[in-house]
Amino acid sequence: MTQSKTADLLAAVTDSQETEVQTVRSEAVASRQLIVSPVSEAAVDIGVIGLAVMGENLILNMASKGYTVVAFNRTTSKVDDFVTGRAQGLTILGADDLPTFVSLLKSPRKVMLMVKAGPAVDAFIDMLSPLLDRGDIIIDGGNTHFPDTVRREQALAEHGILFVGAGVSGGEEGALTGPSIMPGGNADAWSALKPIFQGIAAQVSGQPCCDWVGGGGAGHFVKMVHNGIEYADMQMIAEAYSLLSGVLGLSAPEIGAIFEDWNGGELDSYLIQITAEILKKTDGDTGQPMVDVILDTAGQKGTGKWTSVTALDVGAPANTIAEAVFARILSSLKEQRVEASKVLHGPTETGETPVRDAFVEQVRQALYASKICSYAQGFQMMDLAAVEYDWKLDFGSIAQMWRGGCIIRAAFLDRIKAAFDGNATLPNLLLDPYFIEAIGTSQLAWRQVVAAAALRGVWTPAFSSALAYYDGYRSARLSANILQAQRDYFGAHTYERTDKPRGEFFHTNWTGRGGSTSSSTYNA
Ligand code: 2AM
Repeated sequence: MTQSKTADLLAAVTDSQETEVQTVRSEAVASRQLIVSPVSEAAVDIGVIGLAVMGENLILNMASKGYTVVAFNRTTSKVDDFVTGRAQGLTILGADDLPTFVSLLKSPRKVMLMVKAGPAVDAFIDMLSPLLDRGDIIIDGGNTHFPDTVRREQALAEHGILFVGAGVSGGEEGALTGPSIMPGGNADAWSALKPIFQGIAAQVSGQPCCDWVGGGGAGHFVKMVHNGIEYADMQMIAEAYSLLSGVLGLSAPEIGAIFEDWNGGELDSYLIQITAEILKKTDGDTGQPMVDVILDTAGQKGTGKWTSVTALDVGAPANTIAEAVFARILSSLKEQRVEASKVLHGPTETGETPVRDAFVEQVRQALYASKICSYAQGFQMMDLAAVEYDWKLDFGSIAQMWRGGCIIRAAFLDRIKAAFDGNATLPNLLLDPYFIEAIGTSQLAWRQVVAAAALRGVWTPAFSSALAYYDGYRSARLSANILQAQRDYFGAHTYERTDKPRGEFFHTNWTGRGGSTSSSTYNA
């Protein structure tokens, strides 16, 4: 494309004169000159690299909100396909090399990477950095593990480039119509990004599901915890299904109707809604419910595992989230399970089948109470991580970011937001008056469901582990006195006493042979 044609296109884009853009673009496409060359006039709001479906949809979303966007992709034929296809007639330009791409951007330049997490991000950072000026911004919108974001933010800060790691949730549809966006990193970038990100994010009650999360890897960290909670939510819904089918013998469409009903109350959420739809779907080949012909092995991409490993790293008791990851792992051992089912038997005496409506309501309450516990674990984990990584996280704001656009969006997040807005230093969601009351009301049903599952041999790891978390957290005295005595017995690890101040350590010569020398590894 000639300089003047590029300038025409830019001018048309800038003025949002769509017909003119269309005409200029058509001419350019006709002569295969759509890919523009460097121009002195830099008028484009933001550049996006990576034209897989998430990147394309995010660009279309930006354009629909009035922003001008320039697109680039490693395989440049995709740029051409995009600008002449889905992006046609919109304020979207394509570039076939990075110098051109960068030259089109307004200062401070904003470049968003929507490429595969990992080496591709580093490769683009390395190629972009020499082309950018101090104060320019690179955003990684991929599913990056937060330590990588910490590293990149620090490295780029040394060159004056502002790096942001933004968690983007909502899948393809969310990217197009309004995702939840969780940006964190170099705070100096936020004022330039805020209008665009908050403009394209999902809106709930007039509020965007996007706000600044914190420094370093905070944005990607919060997105990771979101995914961990998502694992637990999904597992708990699957357990409710398996109780209704295993104990009451209900069919998939019958359970779908129950879920639809639940979606009208406190469980109102995207995941309950889609599960109701899933359960009602019939397989075209067999006429069976779709769920009955889908193999019971679950895949995973690793974000639940990252959450669980990080929970262990920061000392957070996120057992229900980890349980949901282990549940997927166990499900994947299909062949072993089939063999084991032939020799490992469950209870033979299962008692009477409970009354349908009463049991359905108990399962609903058990699901709600379990869900509260897994969210409590997620927020508690963020609280502990904030201390570890020196972030100042606003939990009410995080609940708002998850309120719409993302996979775990749920009406219930309003309650979480209200809890943290009311008390920003709440150490655990379970201590908020609304949640004390909610669990208080549902705990009998929850215990009856977990007991019924245990007595009948129905697999409910997340319900059970959430209850274990609740009972552990509410215990003023646990059985850890025995653990500490054992540690002191075999390893002289010492213990504190109930009748002495905290921080004073004692050792007992348990056998008369160990002497009085204590180990210095109390916390090990
Ligand atoms: P591609 O179209 O050239 O494959 C999702 O895979 C996105 O990440 C695509 O835009 C893809 O570009 C890009 N991507 C994946 N691996 C990449 C790499 N190693 N270098 C650059 N881009 C990459």
